[in-house]
Amino acid sequence: MSIEKTLSIIKPDAVSKNIIGKIITRFEDNGLYLVAGKLLHLSDDDAGGFYQEHKGKPFYEDLIKFMTSGPVFIQVLKGEDAIIKNRELMGDTDPTKAKKGTIRADFANSIDANAVHGSDSQTSAIREIRRDPEKSGKTPYQSCRALFVIQSLPRKKLLNAALRG
Ligand code: CMP
Repeated sequence: MSIEKTLSIIKPDAVSKNIIGKIITRFEDNGLYLVAGKLLHLSDDDAGGFYQEHKGKPFYEDLIKFMTSGPVFIQVLKGEDAIIKNRELMGDTDPTKAKKGTIRADFANSIDANAVHGSDSQTSAIREIRRDPEKSGKTPYQSCRALFVIQSLPRKKLLNAALRG
């Protein structure tokens, strides 16, 4: 077991259903901590960069169209074996195959509108969390870095930093 960070996206279908809180509760109830997060509307470039490994696949164009169709909530989850735990909580990519009680079985409409994304490996988690923030200027990643720094401060400094916003 090891403490890991993983990137999680609550997709436009789930955001529009007003279930961000219900999904985050699944993570919290299973020992994952939300250590950074931001609601934002991805551009084509943001989504294309994020899903570059799927470029050329038959579902790529629809995936980009869907991921830019409305706001998403991007978050970093931290905890013991966070990467695999998040994937277990999400369930199969295709909600018709997802186990009962998983996020996708309970909240997803289809393989495209499947409620959540989660990093699939340590390499992806590192890449996804570190994706260049400066390019779009509206990413969660800058705030992630700030939060990670804040998290490592002693309690008094943490409080002061939080108060400073
Ligand atoms: P996600 O975990 O965000 O990673 C890529 C996304 O592509 C996936 O969830 C699905 O929403 C979408 N997708 C659509 N069709 C497929 C498919 N046949 N295989 C994998 N992913 C697909």
